[in-house]
Amino acid sequence: MTLVRNDLFLLLVIIFSLQSLSCKVLQEDLTSDSCPPPSLALNGSLTEKGETRIRGEYSNVREVKFSGSIGPLGEKRLCKIKCIGGQWVGPLCVDQQDNGRFQPLFKNCKLEYINPHLVVTFKNITIHNPGIVFPHGSQLQVRCKELGLYKLLGTATPRCHNGEWSTRLPSCVPTTILTNFTEDAPPTVLIKIPSGSASVEPGGDLALFPGSTLHFECLYPRRVGTPDWTWTTPLGQYLTGWAIAPEERDWKYRLSIYYAKSQDSGTFTCATPRGITNSITLHVVAVTCEPISVRGIHLTVRVEGTRLGHRAFFQCPTGYVVSGAPNLTCQASGKWSSTVPKCDPVTCPPFDSPGGLPEPHLQLEEYNNSFGGRAVFSCAWGYRLVGPPGIECEINGNWSGRLPKCLPVQCPPPVLPINGHLIQSESPGMDGGRYAVGSLVQFACKGAHLLEGEASIICTETGFWSHPPPFCKPRCAYLGEPNNGLVAPTKFAYDPGDELQVTCNPGFESKIDEQRIKCLPDGKWSGPLPNCTSYDQI
Ligand SMILES: *[C@@H]1O[C@H](CO)[C@@H](O)[C@H](O)[C@H]1NC(C)=O
Ligand SMILES: *[C@@H]1O[C@H](CO)[C@@H](O)[C@H](O)[C@H]1NC(C)=O
Ligand SMILES: *[C@@H]1O[C@H](CO)[C@@H](O)[C@H](O)[C@H]1NC(C)=O
Ligand SMILES: *[C@@H]1O[C@H](CO)[C@@H](O)[C@H](O)[C@H]1NC(C)=O
Ligand SMILES: *[C@@H]1O[C@H](CO)[C@@H](O)[C@H](O)[C@H]1NC(C)=O
Ligand SMILES: *[C@@H]1O[C@H](CO)[C@@H](O)[C@H](O)[C@H]1NC(C)=O
Ligand SMILES: *[C@@H]1O[C@H](CO)[C@@H](O)[C@H](O)[C@H]1NC(C)=O
Repeated sequence: MTLVRNDLFLLLVIIFSLQSLSCKVLQEDLTSDSCPPPSLALNGSLTEKGETRIRGEYSNVREVKFSGSIGPLGEKRLCKIKCIGGQWVGPLCVDQQDNGRFQPLFKNCKLEYINPHLVVTFKNITIHNPGIVFPHGSQLQVRCKELGLYKLLGTATPRCHNGEWSTRLPSCVPTTILTNFTEDAPPTVLIKIPSGSASVEPGGDLALFPGSTLHFECLYPRRVGTPDWTWTTPLGQYLTGWAIAPEERDWKYRLSIYYAKSQDSGTFTCATPRGITNSITLHVVAVTCEPISVRGIHLTVRVEGTRLGHRAFFQCPTGYVVSGAPNLTCQASGKWSSTVPKCDPVTCPPFDSPGGLPEPHLQLEEYNNSFGGRAVFSCAWGYRLVGPPGIECEINGNWSGRLPKCLPVQCPPPVLPINGHLIQSESPGMDGGRYAVGSLVQFACKGAHLLEGEASIICTETGFWSHPPPFCKPRCAYLGEPNNGLVAPTKFAYDPGDELQVTCNPGFESKIDEQRIKCLPDGKWSGPLPNCTSYDQI
């Protein structure tokens, strides 16, 4: 594309959008006036980048024309905004129904909800999801999903007028076969096509290819009465009567059309003896559709033919899913009921929630959400994985299992040594007597007991303590100095086997056999502390 500056038609391509309207600026008409650069929205949200992509300077621009893409099918219309009194006004778009004049856009209508029994079509395209916005003037076509099993109540063609639908969406009344033949229900009309082909049209009519044979079966209990078939085709004469096969003869009242011709087009109505009716409108038309051309590399198709009512069934190979309608029918418009689907590779849903993985301590080691791919997990430090460490993306687009969990690693309460105790009984992360990874506990021995081993141990990632708990070995206590004497050696405490000797001051003496005492293995002295007594007293 050539860009010619300062020319009357400066071509620019950007996307411009106003609510559901997304447009491309194609031309500007440069004259003198003064408006700020128009704000540019991409899919409804204002963007800074877009503005600079058009141009910085708008002081000389009076009118911006652009191609608008309007409505759910992206209908293209020429639109413009105008600079009036320093303000952008618009958009105004060309309305084909109004001699191609630029008109303001009327308000859109939103389809809030689609009753599951209804098939809603817009311009012969089936609308599957509610929430779609339709421009002013759009006309929907509504029918009940199962033609003949439900009777449409209400108008089948709601139209959008400046933000309002002309009528509520119609409802579908169940017929006799669905109500256990209650007498106030409209009769069910089943459609049987022993030869030929037919299509249920977006408006709820039945389109039949010429030469087909068609049975309409009005379901009504024969013991209650006989229904009545009427039709609007002026010349037609049709066979009517109860079915003959024993399993059908008591409840199927038929009308048969053999080798249908265009003159058989009309409305066929079955009325119960109480006058409750159900009708089907038939069009016999010799229409064929374009042969289906399949361009997708993986897609395979089985086509019944290209006549009205013929169907095409699409399939994708293993590892792919059909994206779009899997079956198409050739319709009276000469178009297939939907566009040719695609094969999308099967992918499993991503795990990401806004804050990352749903499990806070879970980490992804490996991630591939294609069919056959896998996700492998680990846990943060101090947590251990519970559940499968890896899951696979299966053919149905589901993961083979649930996400594993991360539970905190904990150590059991340490074994307390006999004659020992914990200095620090409370530790951060302690939970029900169990200790979190990193918890430190310290031991102490009671009295003169000797601590043997590690005085403090740590809960490790493995869920085990870093060391075994210590022992508290018994020791003999320091007994103090005797009166008038000294003990040797002097210690805070004495190991088993240590001996203690008393040396008396001059003039004092202890009994010879009592001069030494020994520390016994149980932490007791072999005898009492010897006394130093004066010679006088001996
Ligand atoms: C706008 O939205 C449509 C459909 O939601 C999407 O296909 C398109 O890529 C979006 N365009 C931009 C520019 O975001
Ligand atoms: C019809 O009858 C069957 C069994 O007789 C019952 O289960 C079902 O609910 C009935 N349906 C209706 C619409 O009344
Ligand atoms: C498409 O046709 C197949 C084969 O007749 C059928 O089993 C399937 O239910 C149809 N799917 C839809 C969505 O109509
Ligand atoms: C929809 O199909 C009908 C025939 O069933 C045809 O007359 C009509 O022109 C089609 N409408 C559009 C917008 O294609
Ligand atoms: C994901 O897994 C599939 C199936 O094993 C494999 O074919 C594909 O190459 C993988 N993708 C990546 C990006 O590794
Ligand atoms: C996939 O998982 C969802 C949710 O658990 C389940 O509803 C669905 O039936 C599964 N799909 C298949 C094809 O198994
Ligand atoms: C040492 O003297 C104290 C007090 O005089 C007495 O109780 C103790 O029995 C004496 N010890 C010995 C071994 O005689």
